[in-house]
Amino acid sequence: MNRREFLATSAAASVGFSLFGAESSTVSTSLSHPAILGGNPVRTTAWPAWPVFDETEESAMLKALRGGKWFRGSGNQVVGFEKAYAKRAGAKHCVATSSGTTALLTTLGALNIGPGDEVILPPYTFVATYNVITMHYALPIFVDIDIATSQLDAEKIEAAITPNTKAIIPVHLGGNCCDMDKILEVAKKHNIPVIEDACQSHLAEWRGKMVGTWGTAGCFSFQASKNLNAGEGGAIVTNDDDFANLCFGFQDQGRPKGTKFEHHYTRGANLRMTEFQGALLQAQMTRIEEQAKRRTENAKYLESMLKDIPGIQPQQSYAGCTRNAYHLFAFRYNAEHFAGLSRDKFMHALNREGIECAAGYVHMPKGTHIQNLLANRHYQRLYSKDVLERFAAHCECPQNKALCEVNVRFTQNQLLGPRSDMNQIAEAIRKIQVNAAEIMKA
Ligand SMILES: Cc1ncc(COP(=O)(O)O)c(C=O)c1O
Repeated sequence: MNRREFLATSAAASVGFSLFGAESSTVSTSLSHPAILGGNPVRTTAWPAWPVFDETEESAMLKALRGGKWFRGSGNQVVGFEKAYAKRAGAKHCVATSSGTTALLTTLGALNIGPGDEVILPPYTFVATYNVITMHYALPIFVDIDIATSQLDAEKIEAAITPNTKAIIPVHLGGNCCDMDKILEVAKKHNIPVIEDACQSHLAEWRGKMVGTWGTAGCFSFQASKNLNAGEGGAIVTNDDDFANLCFGFQDQGRPKGTKFEHHYTRGANLRMTEFQGALLQAQMTRIEEQAKRRTENAKYLESMLKDIPGIQPQQSYAGCTRNAYHLFAFRYNAEHFAGLSRDKFMHALNREGIECAAGYVHMPKGTHIQNLLANRHYQRLYSKDVLERFAAHCECPQNKALCEVNVRFTQNQLLGPRSDMNQIAEAIRKIQVNAAEIMKA
């Protein structure tokens, strides 16, 4: 498409936007002079602030402070949060933890994962999913992703299963959902527990039921960037009474629920949530439905605009994903439609237009993390050369590598403003596309 054709398409598109009401009047058809070449940026105002709080959070925190019971063993804030979150998730139990990482660590501890065990995970995830496996000295086995959805490719799981496979950790990435039908089918066939890493997907739903409630257990994070935020924090949800008790014990120094200090029965640590986190989370929960609704409206609108821009492919969802929580809004960037402009330069130009964006994860399976594991003396003692070679072979993951090279993402707070913010994102991308050849030369 040449510049003139593009301008015509863009002008037509902006007429279309007027269907969406007054907010869309901010859409400009002027695609000249990108900010990176000295022009005016499309956006000059800040993105919606995160975290969101007011007197609701202030009074909840003060109440916890003034109550003087700051430890979950003596107060009732964490218990209150566990009840509320279990109810919202539609799960029988919720066990709160200090973080999403410790929630995952706890579930693997409750499964008694240890040296010699293999745990399947996708490579496109935050490194915590991998770290919790190595914390138990088990072997992480990567199964490649489906590039269209960025999720674990469920069709490839079965080929990675061995007699040593003791858990599968699908990651519901970016608020989206994994293909839980296929994952549970394979897991059931081989009798392997599924621990859903739903750290990024609060309120997301697979076939109308919240993610995290489909497998043996699901783990959530309340770290500062997450859609439900307490600075730090985590939770495990499960419908299994015995598993809930094992998880409770693991996060509380290996003590079964309700027992005295001397009754240690298994491995464990202090991975407990504080009363302040419990209080803050209950207050933040009063906001999540409204925020989720706004994210969905904006994300769908943005998706409808971006999919019409050549070279921009918004992340897809499986048909079974009945609710995407849009923790991230991601798309694949194809430089061929931008005069060969590299992704890094594209992102730089977009940032200069006032549209914050980032690339997302690097190709973890080829990173130093993995090389260090192969060289780790404990791993060398625990696993034969053949086993470590098989582990290395599972690190190939070509789809993951491809995604890591082309992914671009926005964060959830960028979806919390008015619809006109979405128009600005689309406008800035079009502006860069029209001027890509000139940006290349600069
Ligand atoms: C997919 C995934 N798993 C696990 C975690 C770990 O959660 P936390 O940071 O609360 O320990 C995160 C956090 O970013 C995550 O995104």
